[in-house]
Amino acid sequence: MDIFRIEGPVQLSGSVTVNGSKNAALPIMAACILAAGKSTILSVPNLSDISVCCELLTGVGCKVQKNEDGSLSIDAATIDNPVGDYEIVRRMRASICVLGPLLARCRRAEVSMPGGCAIGDRPVDIHLRGLRELGAEIHLENGYIIAEAADGLTGSSIFLGGPFGSTVLGTANVLMAATLAKGKTIIESAACEPEIADLANFLNSMGAKISGIGSPRLTIEGVKELRPSEHKVIPDRIEAGTFMVAAAITSGRLQINNCRLDDMMAVVYKLRNIGVTVDESDGGCLVTRNGPIHASHITTQPYPGFPTDLQAQFMALLSLADGNSIIIEKIFPDRFMHVAELNRMAASLRKEGAAVIVSGTKKLMGAPVMASDLRASAALVLAGMAAEGTTVVNRVYHIDRGYEKIEERLNPLGAKIYRETD
Ligand code: EPU
Repeated sequence: MDIFRIEGPVQLSGSVTVNGSKNAALPIMAACILAAGKSTILSVPNLSDISVCCELLTGVGCKVQKNEDGSLSIDAATIDNPVGDYEIVRRMRASICVLGPLLARCRRAEVSMPGGCAIGDRPVDIHLRGLRELGAEIHLENGYIIAEAADGLTGSSIFLGGPFGSTVLGTANVLMAATLAKGKTIIESAACEPEIADLANFLNSMGAKISGIGSPRLTIEGVKELRPSEHKVIPDRIEAGTFMVAAAITSGRLQINNCRLDDMMAVVYKLRNIGVTVDESDGGCLVTRNGPIHASHITTQPYPGFPTDLQAQFMALLSLADGNSIIIEKIFPDRFMHVAELNRMAASLRKEGAAVIVSGTKKLMGAPVMASDLRASAALVLAGMAAEGTTVVNRVYHIDRGYEKIEERLNPLGAKIYRETD
């Protein structure tokens, strides 16, 4: 198993380019199932989660090909096995997003029920509720969700909100299924995340009729069939945010290219609010920190609120602030596995329910730590670059799921991150 040995502290400077968004690419790849032919997706990041998704699509009958320019061709001419296998779903929960497209295309789908993960229980009840409202019959058998709609799906008015607000992949599933349903569907309390807007734009390029894109109310006029299309995935706002924190935590200066600040207003506001300079530049931004980091309060929320996927990274940053901060997690109340690890690096964090009180300290110190999930491991790498001495991050396969060769991209900027095999 690979580990990262990180020497710190370092000060980052230079320029870095953000890749295409993992969380936009995954449902867009699943959406290719809806059209009988070859779609091409550009700007797909080269990540282990994307490889798992390719395996999943191949398993249902798609021909997936990686092209020289890095794009992916997904030929869904024949879908002859509408099954999401346990062996794949257990490796990547996002596999659930083939349920809607398989059901719409094949009128039957069997997808292994995803379990919980390090960030929480992560139920899929709202996905199933939405698909049932489109007329699907759904039951659970041997750990598999069996969804059937022998006569096809029928449009409906669906309230898709849940106890924590909207659901991103739940919206993706119901939206994809509704494109081929008979008649009109309204999804109220739809997720407004840019990744869902990107999916909806791709679906429209395939011939779907979706309006209200980017708003909590999506209206879908069902069509008989969709055609294959070509699409370029939006930049990854979470990767961009992670690089922004990397500049800030190392008192550095980074030009971040291919980043849409318009998708990141809550994050940019928070950075400026704590003393980090973010200047918009053509297609990206320049992030610098010269003075102290000020303490602040952060509450994670569905988009356009502050993203849960940057909570851990900001916790690492605020652990060096000039006072006490509070971070409240409103999406995944248990997403705090990084707290104990950051404390091993001399942060001063106290968890109180779904909140963490961060008492700012003057410096972090290197230590061996354990990565528990994707964003938590990013936080440990960030902390390791700012900390004095050596940090060893174990289980870096978590970070490889969402950040492409992070060490090869940070080292030219001044980081000292070495991948070693344990
Ligand atoms: N929820 C339910 N029932 C459902 C679905 C969700 O109660 O049927 C709850 C969840 O437990 C959670 C909240 O609703 O409390 C929101 O979860 P959501 O469904 O939006 O999460 P997701 O779609 O499974 C995506 C991202 C996550 C990101 C969340 C929140 C992908 C592949 N994953 O997950 O990304 O944290 O939205 O923004 O898009 C990551 O990239 O590290 C990651 C975990």
